[in-house]
Amino acid sequence: MHTLREILPLREILEDFRRRGQRIALVPTMGNLHDGHLALVEEARRRGDVVVATIFVNPLQFGAGEDLDAYPRTLTEDQAKLEQAGCDLLFAPATTTVYPRGLAAQTRVCVPEVSEGLCGDDRPGHFDGVATVVAMLFNLVQPEVACFGQKDYQQLAVIRRLVEDLHIPVEVVGVPIVRAQDGLALSSRNGYLDADQRAAAPALYRTLCALRDDLEAGAEDSDTLASGLARLREAGLAPDYLELRDADLGPVTATTRDAVLLAAVRLGPTRLIDNLSLTLPR
Ligand code: PAJ
Repeated sequence: MHTLREILPLREILEDFRRRGQRIALVPTMGNLHDGHLALVEEARRRGDVVVATIFVNPLQFGAGEDLDAYPRTLTEDQAKLEQAGCDLLFAPATTTVYPRGLAAQTRVCVPEVSEGLCGDDRPGHFDGVATVVAMLFNLVQPEVACFGQKDYQQLAVIRRLVEDLHIPVEVVGVPIVRAQDGLALSSRNGYLDADQRAAAPALYRTLCALRDDLEAGAEDSDTLASGLARLREAGLAPDYLELRDADLGPVTATTRDAVLLAAVRLGPTRLIDNLSLTLPR
């Protein structure tokens, strides 16, 4: 597996793939790779002839006071995992390569509506940063297909809308959430948790499962969500939000069947997100 840090050699090698008629599948990441990321690489291998992964801790999507500096950077380990998973090419650019004029001068992409609410409320500007870097990666790599995790449900919705609105010719594939044995969704941020916090964290998934079961059995939405918030707090998790939306993140109506429960909680300084799809008995 080649690792490239500069744009020109990336374009050259991609051109070579394309000349040979190979289908390019892209997996964008911020590194510190775990089995959730590697599931995206596996899916990309199924869908493309050549898998291109990217590792870039994107400063544009971190707010003031967030964990940009603390975010784990583990390039050597990540390279070994990607190689093992069958990735063909890694693009791991420096910040100055991606944003040569600096962040303030950077052209940005904003995806309205779907970027608002949920994580968009707690992290202003976050999804503009994501949409900007993902649009840039689509332009740089020009993949036929790109894989993203359903763990970041709102992010996936933002990227689907971005591709639709800007008529970007890429197929966006959502990959199911990979979890630890106790149900906690794998995340690079789980490494911030101390032993007590790690023991408390699976209550997030357990609560979502209990709420899903209640809602699918016909429980009333607002009562169920109120009891869910109480359960999270009892488990020592401080909820930023707990919401029931339709599968496209619109409001749930009397006729909605395909729905999703989404939550973000704080455990000390660490913010965890999770979601669970369900079918409402209408
Ligand atoms: P990062 O958090 O590194 O995640 C990279 C990809 O891995 C995302 O598509 C995310 O949804 C997926 N992923 C993370 N944990 C997962 C899990 N447990 N199961 C399945 N998929 C999982 O998301 C980002 O980076 C960035 O915002 C990025 C899209 C790269 C733009 O900077």
